[in-house]
Amino acid sequence: MKKEIKKVLDDAKRYLVQQESLFGDEIILPKQSSDEPKQSPVEKNVGDEQFGVDPSWVESKTLNELETKIRNCVKCPLGKTRTNFVFGVGNPNSEIVFVGEAPGMDEDLQGEPFVGRAGQLLNQLLASVGFRRDEVYICNVLKCRPPGNRDPLPSEIEACSPYLVKQLEIIKPKLIVSLGRFPIQTLLKTNAPLSSLRGQIFEWHGIKLIATYHPAAALRNQQWKRPLFEDLRKAREILYQK
Ligand code: URA
Repeated sequence: MKKEIKKVLDDAKRYLVQQESLFGDEIILPKQSSDEPKQSPVEKNVGDEQFGVDPSWVESKTLNELETKIRNCVKCPLGKTRTNFVFGVGNPNSEIVFVGEAPGMDEDLQGEPFVGRAGQLLNQLLASVGFRRDEVYICNVLKCRPPGNRDPLPSEIEACSPYLVKQLEIIKPKLIVSLGRFPIQTLLKTNAPLSSLRGQIFEWHGIKLIATYHPAAALRNQQWKRPLFEDLRKAREILYQK
């Protein structure tokens, strides 16, 4: 018994030392214990008829219902400049969801996430680790394209991210793969740099969450392609481990 207690304390110490070396004073791994009351992760009703959104979107039971209720959203200025609302694509029952940042030009024109160059690399990487694009689900933090592909603004993330949260709540995947810094920072509510989060497995509302590089970053910087591939391989292993 004494030995077991010592092992638990040693493990806890190792964990805290590791966390401190990664994040300083900031602790960003609040695992939800299973006996905590289960709360809907959608925190607030951003729906508002005046912004083209059916306020009952928060009660949506399916992705189709959700999309229909929010696709005319003009809650932030991107709603006025977009060509298409880019909701998400793939298997609504997928055990794995890939979350990117925001639609680019190709995605805005076609209304589908990850169809441009970054999307082609993502498709190749998915295939190389054994996933078919049509068996997984792919979406973004923002549903509308920021002009000129600039970074999403905090106000845009605040307005749009509840839709992502609702998508995840409906799909209930076993694993979320965050592509790039915006999805992981949004879901974990942290400003920690991607370099300190990448490759790690977190938990978000009882769902495993792994952070990796964005495929567009791997196109710009070839040295990130292999770690991205390794992270996707790890995602596959996590999903299919017994
Ligand atoms: N980059 C993203 O983050 N998402 C897309 O859909 C396309 C490019």
